[in-house]
Amino acid sequence: MNPDFVVRGSSHVYIASAEVLLPQLVQDRRVVVVTDATIDRLYGDLIAPYEKIMIGRGETMKTLQTVEQIVRQLIKMDADRTTFLLAVGGGIVSDITGLVASIYMRGLQFGFISTTLLGQVDASVGGKNGVNIDGYKNMVGCFTQPEFVICDPAMLTTLPEREFRAGLAEIVKATIIGDAAMFERLERATLEELRQEHALLAEAVRAAVRVKVEIVEQDEREAGNRRLLNLGHTLAHAIEKCSREMNHGEAVAVGTALVADAAVRMGVLSDADRNRIRALLIRLGMTLESPLPIAKLLREVGKDKKRVGAHLHLVVPTAIGRCEVRLVTEEEVQAIFAE
Ligand code: GLY
Repeated sequence: MNPDFVVRGSSHVYIASAEVLLPQLVQDRRVVVVTDATIDRLYGDLIAPYEKIMIGRGETMKTLQTVEQIVRQLIKMDADRTTFLLAVGGGIVSDITGLVASIYMRGLQFGFISTTLLGQVDASVGGKNGVNIDGYKNMVGCFTQPEFVICDPAMLTTLPEREFRAGLAEIVKATIIGDAAMFERLERATLEELRQEHALLAEAVRAAVRVKVEIVEQDEREAGNRRLLNLGHTLAHAIEKCSREMNHGEAVAVGTALVADAAVRMGVLSDADRNRIRALLIRLGMTLESPLPIAKLLREVGKDKKRVGAHLHLVVPTAIGRCEVRLVTEEEVQAIFAE
């Protein structure tokens, strides 16, 4: 089967059935699966033929301690450089597994089966692997492309509603960056339709992955345009750092709405387009109120790891389907976001 997308020449992304594809892709290699208890319960049959390492659930697991625990288990299992590491789960499992695979014995082949919408449309594609330090997101990590990523739309039917909506936030983000037609398609859809019509959801996933792949093709290491993928993320990371209330997708929805407001104040986005962005996010069930005062978020923004000296790169929408990266000072950020 041909991949739907090829990233950087050799990383294959499939939007297809994991059950059909997985045996073909791993063939007779020794496979160690990294997953969590929920995924194991849901997809036990799929991973039953392989050895397994279990990790806990949630963002708090994205630490170097978890990396070390997995490494110790791999040593105990006598895993060597020919072992294939397969993450089965959402973005947290794939971020950790990708990092382990990149450093265990200086690097193993690895792949992902992405079971969440957020993972399928963002985290699993593009080769970013990493863990958090003291709540600072992805402070330690690397760019290493997985051999394959399988995004199986059928797996999304078991997602809790909240996680589903979180994934939709990243899809909306991707369409604001680079797919005005899909944005319009989503404006005509309802949350229920997206949940129930697999063809529509697969189309939305494909659109978001396409936006991402095209950008990663030009700029794998985020020296330029890959920064566009961080639309809404400057404030989203600050929200996640300061509040346990919101998951990543929910925080991205708030961050995107706030940066759209800021873009209007900067005179680069029309009121009409800002209103469409807010309306679509609300229509798809997102809350756009920040759980914390903006001033508190802005204090965190100052510690953003993507800061360049006194500046940081802020992604601003200039139209539906078009964004720009602006290098702004911390003072400018404060002024732009001031309520
Ligand atoms: N999630 C943003 C990126 O992969 O660059």
